[in-house]
Amino acid sequence: IDFSAATTAKIDSRGGKCLYAQMDQFRAAGPAVAVELPEGMSAWSISRGDVVRKLLTHPGVSRNVKNNVPSYSPGVVQWLSPWVDMESMSTAEGREHQRLRQLVAPALTPKRIDAMRPHLEAIAKRLLDDLAEHPADQPVDLHTAYSQQLPTRMICDLFGVPDDLRPEVLRILRVVLNTDNVPEEESAAVFTDMNVAMRQLIDLKRREPEDDLTSFLLAARVVGEEPLAEQELVDMLLLLIGGGSQTTVSLIDHTVRELLANPDQLAVVLADPSRWPDAVEESLRVHCPVGSLPMRWAKEDIDLGEGVVIRAGDAILINYLAHGRDPNVHENPEVFDVDRADKEHLAFGLGPHFCPGARLARLEANVAVPALFARFPDLALAVAPEDIAPLHSFIANDVAALPVVLNH
Ligand code: HEM
Repeated sequence: IDFSAATTAKIDSRGGKCLYAQMDQFRAAGPAVAVELPEGMSAWSISRGDVVRKLLTHPGVSRNVKNNVPSYSPGVVQWLSPWVDMESMSTAEGREHQRLRQLVAPALTPKRIDAMRPHLEAIAKRLLDDLAEHPADQPVDLHTAYSQQLPTRMICDLFGVPDDLRPEVLRILRVVLNTDNVPEEESAAVFTDMNVAMRQLIDLKRREPEDDLTSFLLAARVVGEEPLAEQELVDMLLLLIGGGSQTTVSLIDHTVRELLANPDQLAVVLADPSRWPDAVEESLRVHCPVGSLPMRWAKEDIDLGEGVVIRAGDAILINYLAHGRDPNVHENPEVFDVDRADKEHLAFGLGPHFCPGARLARLEANVAVPALFARFPDLALAVAPEDIAPLHSFIANDVAALPVVLNH
């Protein structure tokens, strides 16, 4: 990237308010801002809603580095490696991408996902029973005790991850999503650790297939196409388990926090339970669980106007928060308003890579949050909303902890 010709900045990894403030700055600065990322990497950060929309569906933009940046060497930028070096549907393009999506599509049909509701309700009930053991007037971290538990248990159940492998899988996901403060040795080892854990899972299911998605993917075929190769299977599992857990944790956290911080909004959904999906949708708009997702690459020069030209081979960092919080799209975009008529957001992306787990994520939040408020009607934040610390990352947009008092 030619830094001399562009507005440049160092990416802010402190998360939360800092993430939003930097996005506002970038939006004002231009259609793209050249950012310095960890380990000397640079990219164009996109923080305007209309430009995000344009680039997510632009034929000259790809998620595949190998095909588009001949000078790139895998593994050179350590933190980036898990995001761009794997052979998954998230990095594939064209026909290869379609093949991978088709393989997993039968497992994530609306009918199959809707059928997961009773299982989710049962998980929520068990977690709430455990929470109820906690003293009524002592603060408890809802992020670890509830928000983090429900989606990770669901996704591990879905893929048949055995109990003894779960802590390792969850540790790996935390390292990948945290772009700040991860000890270097842990971050360096994570790519290997990820592969080891997934191979353990595959070996187990090969020996003892069960009614789960790992066994399903092991057997998956699309007529006229190759089945998944071993490494493809590893990467597919990582993508689904990774993509399907921490993102939904953030959605539950943010929805609960906004409702507790805005009692008038909570009153709307409590008065009419058919409005819960509106609260979840508004949460996705205001606090998209994904900040900037590494990485896209320009296949050709793209002129964005205002003197900004992205050159072929440049890295592009799409900010998924941008559309929902753009004042040119929404009036007072930072205000959480369940009654807002237009809640349009791009929290699940757009175009060929649109999130295949969107329906499951919405279902999980629509089970988790109402069940929580039904069990603990007097739930309250244990600290002022502005004192809730964010997770340090420019990738995951979540809280580091959500201290509440149950008051049951
Ligand atoms: C892709 C967000 C939940 C699996 C994506 C993308 C976004 C996203 C923004 C698009 C990335 C791109 O543009 O390249 C979210 C959010 C979630 C969530 C905010 C929760 C609130 C899930 C769940 C699953 C999942 C529950 C699994 C069941 C995936 C996969 C992809 C993806 C496999 C890659 C699709 C592709 O590249 O074709 N997600 N996701 N996600 N998501 Fe999700």
